[in-house]
Amino acid sequence: MKFIDFKYQKKLNSKHIKNINKILNKNNFILGNEVHNFEKKFAKFSGSKYAVGTSSGTDALFLALKIINLKKDDEVIIPAHTFIATALSAYYTKCKIVLCDIDPNTLLIDIDKLQKLISKKTKAIIPVHLYGRAADIIKIKKIIPKKKKIFIIEDASQAHGLNYYSKKVFIGDFTIFSLYPAKNLGANGDAGIIITNKKNDYIKLKMIRNWGSITKYEHKLIGYNMRMDTIQAAILLEKLKKLKYWNKQRKKIAKFYNLELNKIKYLKINHNLINDHVYHLYVIITKFRNKLQTYLNKKKIDTIIHYPKTINKHLSFKNESFYKKKYKISEEIANSCLSIPIYPEMKIKDQKKVLREIKNFFKFK
Ligand SMILES: Cc1ncc(COP(=O)(O)O)c(C=O)c1O
Repeated sequence: MKFIDFKYQKKLNSKHIKNINKILNKNNFILGNEVHNFEKKFAKFSGSKYAVGTSSGTDALFLALKIINLKKDDEVIIPAHTFIATALSAYYTKCKIVLCDIDPNTLLIDIDKLQKLISKKTKAIIPVHLYGRAADIIKIKKIIPKKKKIFIIEDASQAHGLNYYSKKVFIGDFTIFSLYPAKNLGANGDAGIIITNKKNDYIKLKMIRNWGSITKYEHKLIGYNMRMDTIQAAILLEKLKKLKYWNKQRKKIAKFYNLELNKIKYLKINHNLINDHVYHLYVIITKFRNKLQTYLNKKKIDTIIHYPKTINKHLSFKNESFYKKKYKISEEIANSCLSIPIYPEMKIKDQKKVLREIKNFFKFK
């Protein structure tokens, strides 16, 4: 059984081909109308005024960090347990990255520990709605000292549509999304998007994703080539129509998993207890993780570890001050987490097989 079977998306292929043909005939490959349409629709869908399409989620986060004018000693706080891109986007800006451990219950940034890390030098916090679960942005806003402007840039790369379930999200200064193919909303290639309610920042973001220019050959800001592709925007416009339904499907499967997996004492399943969730990933925690993964592999069930190393353990960061530090909970989770298959329209018989085999594995413990 595949970790994700993309069959549920293939039904849209004939529409994509028709839409791509139109673009091929118009030759508007770069910043065509489809990009602007998708931006408008995605902003509305996500409860925001503006959206700026980008070449990837990594670039979206980099651009959002770029326009807050980080200086060399400015600190940006991110969770120690996230995908490497959250840290790398910050690293490219030359700011100082400060890692924060995660909460063992939510697996998201630990807000009490975060409060202690906020210093005079803190310029931004990047909470990650990891796995599709809502970080409590309202609570994070409350712990920020009133006299200091600290930007909140939400990394919602795994949490498209989360605002339909949680009122605590997408209320920071910027929220960024990866639109990588496997995400809840994914392109058929690389893409990303930033949402914001601030008009000035929106205009700046539109400029710096396009070499600092709005009018051709006039460059008012230092910019980059980090635009969303017209063909990807056309594909995303079709998929966006399905996102609410797809997220509902994910939640339904998760509910089914929760019921059974909660009964296994060697597993930690707290998904249904705290925080809203759009189940980009269904993650279980067990000290028998490696053995369970091998067992499921033998039963032909694909699983993935998201993520086997915390940010502080990557050799690429060997010169960073956090490299030698310890982030106890994050490291424990990296050693015990396992993502099991979940995707829209996953067959009931496959869901049952996943549950059956996990139960079989633990029967002998
Ligand atoms: C939490 C998180 N942040 C950032 C990214 C980077 O996005 P992209 O792959 O589109 O650059 C991803 C996904 O890949 C992600 O899962």
